[in-house]
Amino acid sequence: MVLGVAGGIAAYKSCHIVRGFTERGHAVRVVPTESALNFVGAATFEALSGQPVATGVFDRVHRVQHVRVGQEADLVVIAPATADLLARLATGRADDLLTATCLVATCPVVVAPAMHTEMWNHPATRANVATLRERGVTVLEPAHGRLTGADSGAGRLPDPEQIIALSLLRLAGRELPQDLSGRRVLITAGGTRENIDPVRYLGNRSSGRQGFALAEVAAQRGAEVTLIAGATDELPAPCGAEVIRISSARELAGEVTARAAEQDVIIMAAAVADYRPTVTAPAKLKKNSESAPTAVELTENPDILAGLTAARRDGRIPADTVIVGFAAETGDERASVLDHALRKVRRKGCDLLMCNDVSSGKVFGRNRNRGWLISPDGSSTEVPDGTKLEVASLILDSVVRITTER
Ligand code: CTP
Repeated sequence: MVLGVAGGIAAYKSCHIVRGFTERGHAVRVVPTESALNFVGAATFEALSGQPVATGVFDRVHRVQHVRVGQEADLVVIAPATADLLARLATGRADDLLTATCLVATCPVVVAPAMHTEMWNHPATRANVATLRERGVTVLEPAHGRLTGADSGAGRLPDPEQIIALSLLRLAGRELPQDLSGRRVLITAGGTRENIDPVRYLGNRSSGRQGFALAEVAAQRGAEVTLIAGATDELPAPCGAEVIRISSARELAGEVTARAAEQDVIIMAAAVADYRPTVTAPAKLKKNSESAPTAVELTENPDILAGLTAARRDGRIPADTVIVGFAAETGDERASVLDHALRKVRRKGCDLLMCNDVSSGKVFGRNRNRGWLISPDGSSTEVPDGTKLEVASLILDSVVRITTER
């Protein structure tokens, strides 16, 4: 693959991207712009990639590099892309090796812009991004956060691992169309924690990865995403999504309910505890003392998903809101994984249920997932083994299909 690097301060992060791709077994040819070399030396790129580095069309002319590099690429990733590079790509310039390569390449092209918020929001940049997207280039949404200097806002380069994962999604043949543009999507992720005392809680094994992947892909497909997350592995915030942190099921219920009526799509990927301790001890429970419990009495938590579909039936949230549930199932002597899932989609009243088989720890904490998408009419679609981003993009394809049918 070709990794293009333009001349912005975030160019230093491109070294991690080269590493990430080569560690996954990909051959990476780094093509910096001349100004990128003000930030990272050619020697660094050559050492990390094991391949020569050139910036101009007149370097090693006998090898016709300005054509060959693009022709041989399976994927072109440009990270970071500056406002200037976006303008040159949009107007079809070919005044250095990177832009010439992009004109030749027929493979997927992923561009990760990084610049100051004012430049990102400027009508010229917006128009260039729109032009590139129309031509099928995947222009990633930048992250929000600290920029060069003291200011912060939209325009940060996403985490190198996020760029790698989204690029590999394109390499796997999944597009990131802007088909959720203008849609409000609420996603819950991770596990809830139900306190026993200030030190202990009842929790579960959810890593939050599938919910974060859904938020990442939905935001990259143009949605206005709110991600409500409980306990998760340490994961970078999905670019462009508003992230709200909660701990218990009741806190989650409060945050979801407060926002539900404004959403076009609600995806309940969180692993919500069905029960909480009836009493949370205000001070740490001590063993060998009078307060030492011999049992924890439990009270049922609200079923958030069932509450949402009931609210939709009652007209408290709009009838065309698409509501998606998740089910982590193991088969048992009474029913198979799929039978349990079909009963659940009907019981909960949602439009779609993503069902995983979690027997023998097949999903938790992994980067891959598989399962079935179940509809209330009993139809099911197999979701083949793939990264959680690939699974997210299939789930969102189904969501888009349902929204356009309504
Ligand atoms: N869910 C919820 N509120 C709860 C429990 C679950 O909103 N109190 C949601 C989950 O986010 C998920 C779906 O319901 O989208 C299914 O969760 P699951 O735990 O499999 O369902 P349960 O109703 O708890 O069924 P089970 O008896 O299999 O635990």
